[in-house]
Amino acid sequence: MSKKILEVKNLTVHFYTYAGIVKAIEEVSFDVFEGETFALVGETGCGKSVTARAITQLIESPGRIVRGEVYYNPDGERLNLLELPDEEIRTIRGNDIAYIFQDPQSSLDPLYNVGYQVSESLFVHGRVKSIKDGIKKAVNILRTVLLPDPERRVSNYPHELSGGMKQRVTIGIGISNDPRILIADEPTTALDVTVQAQILWLIKEMKKRYGVTVILITHDMGVVADMADRVAVMYAGKIVEVAEVTEVFKNPVHPYTQGLLKAVPNPLKKIERLETIPGTVPSLINPPSGCRFHPRCPEISKVCKEKIPELREVKKNHFVACHNR
Ligand SMILES: Nc1ncnc2c1ncn2[C@@H]1O[C@H](COP(=O)(O)OP(=O)(O)O)[C@@H](O)[C@H]1O
Ligand SMILES: [Mg+2]
Repeated sequence: MSKKILEVKNLTVHFYTYAGIVKAIEEVSFDVFEGETFALVGETGCGKSVTARAITQLIESPGRIVRGEVYYNPDGERLNLLELPDEEIRTIRGNDIAYIFQDPQSSLDPLYNVGYQVSESLFVHGRVKSIKDGIKKAVNILRTVLLPDPERRVSNYPHELSGGMKQRVTIGIGISNDPRILIADEPTTALDVTVQAQILWLIKEMKKRYGVTVILITHDMGVVADMADRVAVMYAGKIVEVAEVTEVFKNPVHPYTQGLLKAVPNPLKKIERLETIPGTVPSLINPPSGCRFHPRCPEISKVCKEKIPELREVKKNHFVACHNR
């Protein structure tokens, strides 16, 4: 196996709201290996985006990273991203670790044409001498992400492009500085099905071409099956299972993962809401004691209410957080 490009250790993020402290993610730990596609999957609200954003200190008030370390290991270095000063983390964001978000609209500026925005990203990271100088490169980048007619489209404003085209532009901005890690947070959720397939295909192409490591966030097991090498399953702010995708589909071990996969005998079906597991996702202000899944678990024992289960290696490279496994 290749080296660990990213190590997330005990990452814990709370939001201090008027209603109470939202314990959005607790002790989240996982490694990402260079060159792989690592998926983070789980129902809406389970903490996927918070995890992704915390990695490069993108948590905003009233949120705070309470605990944890995130090590980024480029060549010969080991940097704790959570301890880097603003300026350094800003350089890493964009240069080394790029993001694509669910809603391309919100990551593009409505006031500038897309050529300007691609070029600006090149300029900010010192790849071109001026924004004007970068326009030619921007056209090339837009061609790479298969934006139709890039010479003309480069002077379009975001509102003049379809959702799929906008997402191509944000991917273009994402890859413009040749990042080592691309974090794609539900990059296709806002798009219709055919466009979804095209964008996923494009992410695969970019990965092949640039060898970028991908962290793919989704609530869709079909996307996991199609795209990922390994997967971490999240439930209510905790990781419950991590393994290779084929292993998880063949031998799911955690009762929650088993429920998930029962809910999707056809992996192309979405898991936004799980009807086959009784109960609802718990409040993260007062999460259940012990294992956060215990109120919905079909195999509960006494210890489940009392003790938080650790993520343990139950089989080579297969980790599960469950007292009964
Ligand atoms: N700005 C915020 N203020 C309060 N709670 C938040 C905020 N952002 C996220 N949360 C809470 O953190 C939890 C995880 O959210 P999120 O990571 O966005 O879920 P996912 O991406 O898996 O759908 C949710 O319970 C959500 O309500
Ligand atoms: Mg999200």
